[in-house]
Amino acid sequence: MKVKTIVGGLVGLGVIAAGYGVGVTIDLNKHYANNSEPLSGQALEEKIARGAYVAVASDCVACHTSDPHKPFAGGYKIDTPFGPILSSNITSDKETGIGRWNKGQFDAAVRHGKGSHGYLYPAMPYPAYSRLTDNDLDDLWAYMQTIAPVKEKVVENQLPFPYNQRWLLGGWNLMFSHGQPFIKDPSRSMQINRGAYLAEGPGHCAACHTAKNILGGDKKDAMQGVTLQGWHAPDLTNNSHVGLGSWSKQDIVDYLHDGTNRVEVASGPMAEAVENSTQHMTREDLAAIAAYLKTLPASSASVPAALTQDSSVMNIGKKIYDTQCAACHISSGAGVSNMIPTLAGNPQLNASDPASLLTVILAGSDGAVTLGNPTAARMPSFGWKLSDQQVAEVTTYIRNSWGNAASVVSADDVAQARKLINATKH
Ligand code: HEC
Ligand code: HEC
Ligand code: HEC
Repeated sequence: MKVKTIVGGLVGLGVIAAGYGVGVTIDLNKHYANNSEPLSGQALEEKIARGAYVAVASDCVACHTSDPHKPFAGGYKIDTPFGPILSSNITSDKETGIGRWNKGQFDAAVRHGKGSHGYLYPAMPYPAYSRLTDNDLDDLWAYMQTIAPVKEKVVENQLPFPYNQRWLLGGWNLMFSHGQPFIKDPSRSMQINRGAYLAEGPGHCAACHTAKNILGGDKKDAMQGVTLQGWHAPDLTNNSHVGLGSWSKQDIVDYLHDGTNRVEVASGPMAEAVENSTQHMTREDLAAIAAYLKTLPASSASVPAALTQDSSVMNIGKKIYDTQCAACHISSGAGVSNMIPTLAGNPQLNASDPASLLTVILAGSDGAVTLGNPTAARMPSFGWKLSDQQVAEVTTYIRNSWGNAASVVSADDVAQARKLINATKH
């Protein structure tokens, strides 16, 4: 299940409700001083290379490519709860891409959410990109102009009425996307500022890791985790039960660089983010992201009491675990470093929402394949083998063993997860 649906979920109810703000427009006629000599030779090449790096850090290619032979030609389908949205062709083709655009139009789309058809849906993460510095936007534009043209017509908006009404997004745009460039905090080190910029801006981590309010805008509790469409993007604050409190900076760097570290393996949408984007970032930048994440104060989720080990559900769960899972995850929940996740003390297991666990157990999952870890292991699917009741029992067991503590998972929860992700019937 390779999906970008989490981001798609951003297209919230706001599409309807935010119509009120229409009429206030962004200044799209901003004039760009064009009085500098156009670059050429070495200087131009360096600028394009810097732009290519911004594109990688922003993961533009992941959403804008559906056919790997036609990078940036768009047509990648993002399922939202309201219907499909396709990404645009952003190659330099003059008819179907952005080959006729100037830098002002590019800026309007990328940092202000105004595209060739009007307001863009926030499935394009422009609220994060609004933080891009002028220099990075400028370099990115230089790079985008070098993308070979591909003729490919995309009809982006495939939503049913009323969600297909782009003008309604005007109000959304006004409420949530403030078009503010990143502002450095002088009381913090250069490294932490760089990390904050990368995470909040190009890396758009908040697009998946920050909960959305009813209108699809970011909630105030930044990076405290969110669940959408079958995956739970965990809390990235220093909470030691459900967040990264027990991870060192090096653990974070390893995870973003290799897709795996001593305790965890990236799967689903995060495996994609690692494969396309973070593994190609410099270790210096990844260390900056890690340093920034380590400054996030622990969220205050309360820790529930673990189920007692001798309850009947825990006894049955343990039997299923020992026969089906322990060969790989080890009976102590220790896993195998850099290959099979440690289940003991794992924040993803303690998360109040078991969405990722159920997706992985029901459908199986491929760990991120990276240059640093080219032979990622696979978690087999158990959807065909275990009943809803059995999946509930084993999931409840792993969530309440080895120091973990989290709510009981019911057979109903599993049945719903099965339906959501279309997992094989038992
Ligand atoms: C999470 C997915 C996602 C990522 C990442 C993403 N885009 Fe988009 N982008 C989209 C979607 C979906 C649309 C179409 C939205 C719509 O039509 O409302 C879009 C639209 C656009 C448009 C408007 C095209 C037009 O004709 O109006 C431009 C330009 C664009 N993206 C450039 C970029 C660049 C540059 C990056 C990286 C900095 C990027 N996108 C990253 C999903 C994404
Ligand atoms: C497209 C959505 C998406 C984006 C964008 C994204 N993440 Fe994630 N992230 C996830 C999901 C989903 C998981 C859970 C993966 C799993 O269960 O294996 C995750 C897991 C993680 C984890 C592991 C946490 C744990 O407890 O296991 C870290 C660290 C992380 N992300 C950091 C980041 C950073 C830093 C960024 C921005 C550079 C980012 N993510 C961007 C969706 C996303
Ligand atoms: C053949 C080896 C193997 C077996 C058997 C196996 N797993 Fe896994 N498991 C893996 C691997 C490899 C991953 C990492 C895959 C990924 O991240 O995409 C994983 C990932 C997971 C995760 C996700 C952990 C996280 O932090 O995101 C959970 C939960 C899990 N397994 C539970 C189970 C349960 C429960 C069983 C038995 C019903 C089981 N596994 C059996 C190899 C195995």
